[in-house]
Amino acid sequence: MSGDNAKKALIDSLNGLLADYFALYLKTKNFHWHVAGPQFRDLHLLFDEQAAEIFALTDIVGERVRKNGGNTLTSIGAVAAKTSIKDDDRTGVDALAMVKALRDDNAALVETIRAVKAAATEAGDNATEGMSDDWTDQAEQRVWFLTQILA
Ligand SMILES: [Fe+2]
Repeated sequence: MSGDNAKKALIDSLNGLLADYFALYLKTKNFHWHVAGPQFRDLHLLFDEQAAEIFALTDIVGERVRKNGGNTLTSIGAVAAKTSIKDDDRTGVDALAMVKALRDDNAALVETIRAVKAAATEAGDNATEGMSDDWTDQAEQRVWFLTQILA
């Protein structure tokens, strides 16, 4: 792949990750707001912690796009066009079904980050390559917490 193409692929990959972070942030907040049942307090608090962690990454990923010379996402419409996280607009989802959905979404995110890292390696973007390991660890931690609740 030529240098220019590798850079374009990296920018596209980063924007996909950014869209997924925004979509998963709102989905996690939705569950934070609507969760109900005997585990309400634990899940309400856990979902809020995870949403905050995800939101904190959005600015970092957006600025990696800019530092690579690309244009980043501009709107909720741009997020919707780019994300692979499925919307769930129901408000009465069972608490454990919420946990399972977020576990699966975060596990998918681990794979998306793996692809970002590979694109960063291809484009010679050492900073994104290094940071993606931290993003992976955070996503794997969320997967772990959510999986333990389902055990
Ligand atoms: Fe809250």
